[in-house]
Amino acid sequence: MIGKLNHVAIAVSDLESATAVYRDTLGAAVTEATDLPEHGVTTVFVELPNTKIELLKPFGKDSPIQRFLDKNPDGGIHHLCYEVDDINQAIDNMVSQGARVLGDGKPKTGAHGKPVVFLHPKDFCGTLVELEQV
Ligand code: CO
Repeated sequence: MIGKLNHVAIAVSDLESATAVYRDTLGAAVTEATDLPEHGVTTVFVELPNTKIELLKPFGKDSPIQRFLDKNPDGGIHHLCYEVDDINQAIDNMVSQGARVLGDGKPKTGAHGKPVVFLHPKDFCGTLVELEQV
């Protein structure tokens, strides 16, 4: 059901230095930083030939990223994002298989202006999974 790996997200406490690592040390193309208040994050995307890396910094007081950074002060891999053709059908399939969709279970608008949902890490090998309709 899932398609391409859309991105790997890495949570960081210092977005400028993380962007510099990818831009300068690794020589990758990076986007401008974008605030996503609805998700409580500021993002920079690193554009790779076959996928993207999403650098995430907490935005606002109740950012879901802050708890992750409290546990992982050096940052770390936060989630994987897989592409799906039809997110509502994907949600129905996952739920019927016993998987849990986070939040109210409904898609929200993600970093690329497309519908996304997050799935419970305990149901996916200990990894937070994002699905994005492309
Ligand atoms: Co993401």
